[in-house]
Amino acid sequence: MKPDRARVRAFFAARAAHWDRRFPDDGPRYTAAVAELAPPEGGAVLDAGCGTGRALPALRSAVGPRGTVLGIDLTPEMLEQASRAGRHGSGHLAVADVARLPLRSASLDAVFAAGLISHLPDPGANLRELARVVRPGGRLALFHPVGRAALAARKGRTITADDLRAEPNLRELLARSGWRMLCYEDRDDRFLTLAARLPTGPEGPRPARGGG
Ligand SMILES: C[S@@+](CC[C@H](N)C(=O)[O-])C[C@H]1O[C@@H](n2cnc3c(N)ncnc32)[C@H](O)[C@@H]1O
Repeated sequence: MKPDRARVRAFFAARAAHWDRRFPDDGPRYTAAVAELAPPEGGAVLDAGCGTGRALPALRSAVGPRGTVLGIDLTPEMLEQASRAGRHGSGHLAVADVARLPLRSASLDAVFAAGLISHLPDPGANLRELARVVRPGGRLALFHPVGRAALAARKGRTITADDLRAEPNLRELLARSGWRMLCYEDRDDRFLTLAARLPTGPEGPRPARGGG
């Protein structure tokens, strides 16, 4: 079943108050993933689906005081928890949908998206919207603090070949959405894909031909 926005919002609203307590040891994994995304000092970075803002302090450290850190999320309750934890001190928070970002085209250097992609009803269109707001050559990190098999096991499932985050599927999806996959890692203790924004054509990000 495709995720539906109202259902996604209700799901995370019900979990917001306890979100950080469920995963208390993930901090260093976020810090390491942000280091690999490597947003430039003084640059502008978006945490898409930032939730309670677990990545925001690391993103702020990366871009420094002159940089810009934005955190957007569909679920206001998650952002309230981010503020309650003091993470609004690391970046500007706003309720927004990655389907339609309130940002100018090519205004960002990088996007960090943790645990987001599997909750999107139209991942191709949403990745394309993320590509719109990133400058050509800018970067995207799709991250999860556990790998696909471990995450599926938590939910009593196993992974299947049609999984959106399986390497060939994700590589192809990214290429169709304005991104070139740079690396792919799916270990027990993390999932991390980095991608680079493709050059822009007149209609926006130009999809790659072939396997990229
Ligand atoms: C698994 S949580 C991860 C939260 C945070 N990134 C973290 O790693 O702790 C997924 C988050 O994505 C948000 N989300 C889901 N669909 C979204 C959308 N279309 N636009 C913006 N945020 C969305 C949810 O509200 C939720 O906070």
